Amino acid sequence: MIKKILVTGGSGYIGSHTLVDLIEHGFEVISADNNSRSTIGMLEGVEKITGVKVKNYNVDLCNFDETRAIFEENNNIEGIIHFAAYKAVGESVEKPLLYFHNNMGSLVNILRCIEEFKIPNFVFSSSCTVYGNPDAIPVTEDTPRKNAESPYGLTKQMGEQMIEAFAASNATTNSVLLRYFNPAGAHASALIGELPIDRPQNLTPVITQTAIGKIPQLTVFGNDYPTRDGSCIRDLIHVCDLAHAHTLSIRFLLNKKNKTNCEVFNLGSGDGITVLESIRAFEESTGVPLNYTIGERRPGDVVAIYANNDKARTALGWVPQFGLKDIMTSAWKWEQYIQNQPKHLDLRAHRLN
Ligand code: WQD
Repeated sequence: MIKKILVTGGSGYIGSHTLVDLIEHGFEVISADNNSRSTIGMLEGVEKITGVKVKNYNVDLCNFDETRAIFEENNNIEGIIHFAAYKAVGESVEKPLLYFHNNMGSLVNILRCIEEFKIPNFVFSSSCTVYGNPDAIPVTEDTPRKNAESPYGLTKQMGEQMIEAFAASNATTNSVLLRYFNPAGAHASALIGELPIDRPQNLTPVITQTAIGKIPQLTVFGNDYPTRDGSCIRDLIHVCDLAHAHTLSIRFLLNKKNKTNCEVFNLGSGDGITVLESIRAFEESTGVPLNYTIGERRPGDVVAIYANNDKARTALGWVPQFGLKDIMTSAWKWEQYIQNQPKHLDLRAHRLN
């Protein structure tokens, strides 16, 4: 029997790619997204890729009654993948209460519905940011969480702890926490991808927007760190590999392969790359030179982090398929697509609002 999965944040970057992967692996999907940080045009891209028009519930997940209505209407939801959250580190420093209200309020309502409607499987979008500045790299799932570097990171840590406490009180629901490293790249079709609202914060979209001329010059935030070339080290993971890990996590839970009812997985490539190496990789992969300069360190930046992903490989059967070249060429193809995007999809207009 086809299993129905609710994806919150389905119009978002990782949400839309995960919808594609779930559909391609035989799942029925519905989305809940109020498009406050995304555009419904992304679901049109999902439809073009898969031929499936995904039903989206445009609800505020911080409103319990609106959220609960989804479950009243869909009594056969086998699992939930919860992406919906604000994720801009810098904004979270300026507006911490907005982040606590939105990210924690929505999670509480989802957990309340899981409890009331006895939803058996739950996948939570977490982040390597829960590790803070790790003492040793690569980090494993047993690496202790350290003080969050931002209110955004704190919402991910609190989210994990809330789900752990919920799991301890509710043996009927099985949860997986997925700690993303640095999601990057786009679907090969260039019909879906990362769509930053206003000026991007993350490195890869800054690279592609610099390459296409939207940003005049990229600033490397510091080259005086204790790393091989002085710039920070990160673990870039292709968004399609990340998406497939969500499908594998749902299967893992449906097949009752979990040892506890709250399992944690690192989702990173396992390769650390510096900021300067990322810039070079883009230039070599696309042949497009980048105009960049070295600037001051960005407060709150972690010096170096990358994943030990053995647990996801072993327990989920997850094998990342895409490398750095794929990340950079697909991100560039997507950036060019948006540039020439017909207005009717409203992708650009939304971003400029
Ligand atoms: C990476 C490196 C910057 C922009 C955050 C969150 C994480 C996840 C991804 C949501 C850093 C440098 C960046 C620029 C630069 N959140 N950089 N110039 O901070 O590792 O992770 O975003 O999905 O949870 O913590 O990602 O891409 O912002 O920065 O030099 O213009 O690139 O200093 O060293 P980060 P990032």
